[in-house]
Amino acid sequence: MEFYFFLRTFFIIRFAFDSKPFRYLIMYKIFIRPLLFLLTPESAHNLVLNLFSKTGFLIPFIKFLYSPENSEKFTLNSLTFRNKAGLSAGFDKNGSALRLWDAIGFSHAEIGTVTPLPQPGNPKPRVFRLKKDKALINRLGFNNLGADEVKKNIAAARKHLSSDFIIGVNIGKNKDTSIEEAVNDYEICFEKLYDVADYFTLNISSPNTEGLRTLQEDHRLSELLSEIQDLNRIISGKKNETMKTVFLKISPDIDKLSVESVYENVIRHSIDGIIATNTTVGRPDMKSNSDEQGGLSGKPLKPLSNEILKLFYDMKKAGTGIIPVLIGCGGIFTSDDMKDKLKCGASLVQIYTGLIYEGPFLLKKILN
Ligand SMILES: Cc1cc2nc3c(=O)[nH]c(=O)nc-3n(C[C@H](O)[C@H](O)[C@H](O)COP(=O)(O)O)c2cc1C
Repeated sequence: MEFYFFLRTFFIIRFAFDSKPFRYLIMYKIFIRPLLFLLTPESAHNLVLNLFSKTGFLIPFIKFLYSPENSEKFTLNSLTFRNKAGLSAGFDKNGSALRLWDAIGFSHAEIGTVTPLPQPGNPKPRVFRLKKDKALINRLGFNNLGADEVKKNIAAARKHLSSDFIIGVNIGKNKDTSIEEAVNDYEICFEKLYDVADYFTLNISSPNTEGLRTLQEDHRLSELLSEIQDLNRIISGKKNETMKTVFLKISPDIDKLSVESVYENVIRHSIDGIIATNTTVGRPDMKSNSDEQGGLSGKPLKPLSNEILKLFYDMKKAGTGIIPVLIGCGGIFTSDDMKDKLKCGASLVQIYTGLIYEGPFLLKKILN
């Protein structure tokens, strides 16, 4: 008798959650989001991360509800992405909720930005919701636990993750390191995290670390890429492995000439991919009037990041080969947004702000 009761209840719940409006509206937009939005953006964020870093008991439930069905795969070097969407850097700076990103169904999560030493970031408040624009402004400033702790977190999480889930590590420099010494910080992170990262992203585009974006300048970029790829060659050679996949994350605020010099450097140093883009310091077409400083993400960023993506795609088309791959990031909220990124040349996409406003069902919605 009890068995049939449980069986029937299971199928009723299963059926209810299979109805898109139910799952989509009740679960996140009507129930969870209003509660989370009562908190400050950073408190809401930490609440979610803490919930999933401390316990794994909700993970099967999340997987059951949100994990997308079969989706088109993408292969690059030795990495096969099980679908074309990943979690963008900054959401999980320390790799504390990797099981959640795997359960939601992302093909990959980019952890970080990680710096060699732990650092607290800028004073709070430093993240702001612009609800009318479906956007965020942040000036976090690379708050993270540092390379050693992040390495431990990723290593500990690995055994609980699906074998096809890819972990990228996004690396940067500490606030107190001068721009002249910056390359050293990237090298420290690269070496320390080499064994736990499936790929690396060199972040030279955050607007919240003074001077960081100057690494996009031709000679500085050339030095950074050359040093990192030399190190890559040495470590992979010692381990008798192929070189680690390396991406470069760029800003939406660069001009066409800089796009060209970035692209030339990427080709010259055999970088595998370009992530376009990080947040913007511009305030394009805003409905909210916020004068907070920091990087803008979400819907208003989309046209700008697509424009930069397209510039890279045009250069890629004019050249030969399939490398570098382009990874589109900025303002993905719907399947049309994702299609637009693919049309602008992206082979993969990454999402941050869309997940805050649309919830975990977003991935299933855009991939199916
Ligand atoms: C609160 C916040 C923190 C972020 N932190 C990082 C970071 O540490 N490193 C990085 O490369 N990008 C960071 N980003 C940028 C995102 O990875 C992404 O490039 C950008 O938000 C555009 O995508 P979206 O419109 O989907 O959010 C951050 C974005 C937000 C909103």
